[in-house]
Amino acid sequence: MYPISLEGKTGVVLGVANQRSIAWAIAQTLREAGATLAFTYQNQRLKESVERLVETWGDVPLIECDVANDEHIVRAFAEIKERFGSLSFAVHSVAFAQREDLEGNFYDTSREGFRLALEISAYSLIPVAKQAAELMNGGGSIIALSFNASQQVYPSYNIMGTAKAALEHEVRQLAAELGPRGIRVNALSPGPLDTLAARGIHGYVDMKHLHAERSPLRRNITHKEVANAALFLLSDMSTGITGAVLPVDGGYSIMGV
Ligand SMILES: NC(=O)c1ccc[n+]([C@@H]2O[C@H](COP(=O)([O-])OP(=O)(O)OC[C@H]3O[C@@H](n4cnc5c(N)ncnc54)[C@H](O)[C@@H]3O)[C@@H](O)[C@H]2O)c1
Repeated sequence: MYPISLEGKTGVVLGVANQRSIAWAIAQTLREAGATLAFTYQNQRLKESVERLVETWGDVPLIECDVANDEHIVRAFAEIKERFGSLSFAVHSVAFAQREDLEGNFYDTSREGFRLALEISAYSLIPVAKQAAELMNGGGSIIALSFNASQQVYPSYNIMGTAKAALEHEVRQLAAELGPRGIRVNALSPGPLDTLAARGIHGYVDMKHLHAERSPLRRNITHKEVANAALFLLSDMSTGITGAVLPVDGGYSIMGV
């Protein structure tokens, strides 16, 4: 028996690309806690990857959803409605920036690079939350994945820091608007974890070592620790919490020097 139960709850997870994805760690924990899950994937190439991961899970809805495409988002939630009827929670674990915008000088960021990073990594939470909320008739919980670069400067993180700042504002704005409907919106802000997205950031490995050296816990955090925090925020153990950004970073973000 899991310490927190999601028995009887249905949810959708956006952002599984492979077995290292934070979304995959979260999904596994949510399922162990008893949740019934649907997944969205970005494109056909990643469909196969997600299919392989859930191979032994039985009949799991896998739905294509490129968050740059409004029709995809609407269709994905229409399919979830058909399959589940209603939704208890949604996990937004999606981000993208052009490789050249994750190195060098921030002041060289192109207009197109800015648009793309903000659209995929920040804007997408808005239509996803809107569609998810439509299915959360009995209240619900939505989480997004942020990073401390929303508040502080991390060389190379560049435009993604801007996107995370926007994302965290959206979390507060959506929490305020959806709160009266019993729907909570929060973000997790993990420390560095080895994933496809992280490897795209120039200097990621050095940053990871620095986190382990300087954080109060003197180590890097794990995928499982993020998944456990997600379980908490998506469960009825956190019904008093909305609009929050919860660091899962071994305390790194509290340090001055
Ligand atoms: N890995 C880290 O160190 C770290 C730390 C803090 C926050 N995060 C955040 O966690 C989240 C998940 O990233 P991850 O590290 O697990 O990497 P990941 O590469 O496994 O996940 C990123 C996901 O975004 C999806 N995506 C990108 N563009 C998309 C689009 N147009 N439509 C639909 N999906 C799209 C990808 O398919 C992928 O599944 C991101 O928001 C990331 O910024 C990661």
